[in-house]
Amino acid sequence: MTAGTPAGTPEDTKAANTNSTVSSEAEHVRIFDTTLRDGEQSPGASMTFEEKLQVAELLDEMGVDIIEAGFPIASTGDFESVQEIARRSKNSIIAGLSRAAFNDIDRCGEAVKPARQSRIHTFISTSPIHMKYKLQMEPEAVLQHVADSVGRARKWVDDVEWSAEDGTRTEFEFLCRCVEAAIKAGATTINIPDTVGYTTPLEYKDLFERVRANVPNSDKAVFSVHCHNDLGLAVANSLAGVAGGARQIECTINGLGERAGNAALEEIVMAIRTRHDVLPYTTSIKPHYLMRASKLVSAVTNFPVQYNKAIVGKNAFAHESGIHQDGMLKNAETYEIMKPEDVGVKATSLVMGKHSGRHAFREKLSDLGFELGDNAFADAFRRFKDLADRKKNVYDEDIEALVEDEISTRGDEMAKVIALTVIAGTGGPQKAIITMEVDGQHITKEANGDGPVDATFKAIRTVVPHDAHLALYQVNAVTEGTDAQAEVSVRLEAGGRIATGKGADTDTLVASARAYVSAMNRLAQRMKSSNPQGGALKAS
Ligand code: KIV
Ligand code: ZN
Repeated sequence: MTAGTPAGTPEDTKAANTNSTVSSEAEHVRIFDTTLRDGEQSPGASMTFEEKLQVAELLDEMGVDIIEAGFPIASTGDFESVQEIARRSKNSIIAGLSRAAFNDIDRCGEAVKPARQSRIHTFISTSPIHMKYKLQMEPEAVLQHVADSVGRARKWVDDVEWSAEDGTRTEFEFLCRCVEAAIKAGATTINIPDTVGYTTPLEYKDLFERVRANVPNSDKAVFSVHCHNDLGLAVANSLAGVAGGARQIECTINGLGERAGNAALEEIVMAIRTRHDVLPYTTSIKPHYLMRASKLVSAVTNFPVQYNKAIVGKNAFAHESGIHQDGMLKNAETYEIMKPEDVGVKATSLVMGKHSGRHAFREKLSDLGFELGDNAFADAFRRFKDLADRKKNVYDEDIEALVEDEISTRGDEMAKVIALTVIAGTGGPQKAIITMEVDGQHITKEANGDGPVDATFKAIRTVVPHDAHLALYQVNAVTEGTDAQAEVSVRLEAGGRIATGKGADTDTLVASARAYVSAMNRLAQRMKSSNPQGGALKAS
């Protein structure tokens, strides 16, 4: 592929831009998704090997031009997942990240090699503060590393991206020298990240215009934006960078990412699609996948999507006030600039209850944006039937919570909740008796606590002693009414690692126990993959 050529097929582009206002003149902007790399760097958002494959498969299908699958040198687990994603890729270019060291680059080259189209993305800091304190290197040495690292990457692949970390706080002349050196050494994409979320739209647009005008070989590469959301400007800055001449946008599903996150893919795609009159670009993304991608990423990372999040939030298309509802009934365009179905939100009247069968349940899951494998589907259906027996009306939110719980607790489970009895009330201390299956063995233990949740968690710790610290305990009622399911999130932290688990049940304590055990299983997996001999969490 030559620089400046759209990565998506013409069919994809056609499918992605069904908006009638798209002109044939519009320029293609590549979508580079980094959910599996920058997104996964969010504290507590890490995904298992299987989950990463699932997310990558969906990104590939929805039209993402480049999937940054991970940081292969970071761990054996990262290397293996990047390699497997590369093997399975069908349409997207698969990229891996590497620092400017030869062993990083070689590891990355090895990992992305099986892909139909592979890319090495190498970076080094270029701002005065990063060079002085983080790298402890002189600018001339950094410049030499730029040329050497890109040259090394080109021995593996033709498609090399180079990033100037902390680019927006880099001295302009030095940035231009680095960009020129990277292109000369063979970089085909130049990324100028706003690593700390510091820039503003006009400033970022101007930066791209000036770099492109000042670097003599700038026409030999595609320029890329990569924005963090520390000031809430990531999407605005990304679009401004495109106005300044960038033709690749790095972003993540749900805006997941370091600190306040990255630019949200769904917002960028829908802004370009909805405001084509002022943003005359095309992307290859098929927008009806957006809701499904959002739900999948939220479920596997256990990061909830805020209710009022643009495009994919629960309230993004909800109209509460009487005036708005009245307008909507007369003409939806009075208050709606996009159609919910365009982003994969289906208006459905399928009511679920205890008489609903497998077929209706599968339809409902698909309407809600979930696709489960056979075993996960069988388990979710059994739990749905169980819920419908206990709860008269099963709402969409109930099913979503149930499936998210299923996704959160599935997989390589070390421990599972089998039964829980809690004695609570004014008398105290409260007592919990729990039976768990640990490595195939049933173990029953009890514990007293300061409240029923404390007693439940202590009982779990008696079965599987560990010193993980409870970093978050959060309960939400999924629907209204006293028979509503409780959706519980638990975050555990140990040895610098964080894992989040989710549980849902009409019994808040059962949901709490499930969420705690899910977080504990995830933490154990994470500790095992970074130290296979470790065995940090043990059954008593
Ligand atoms: O934010 C950043 O600078 C990055 C680079 C590694 C591209 O994520
Ligand atoms: Zn970043």
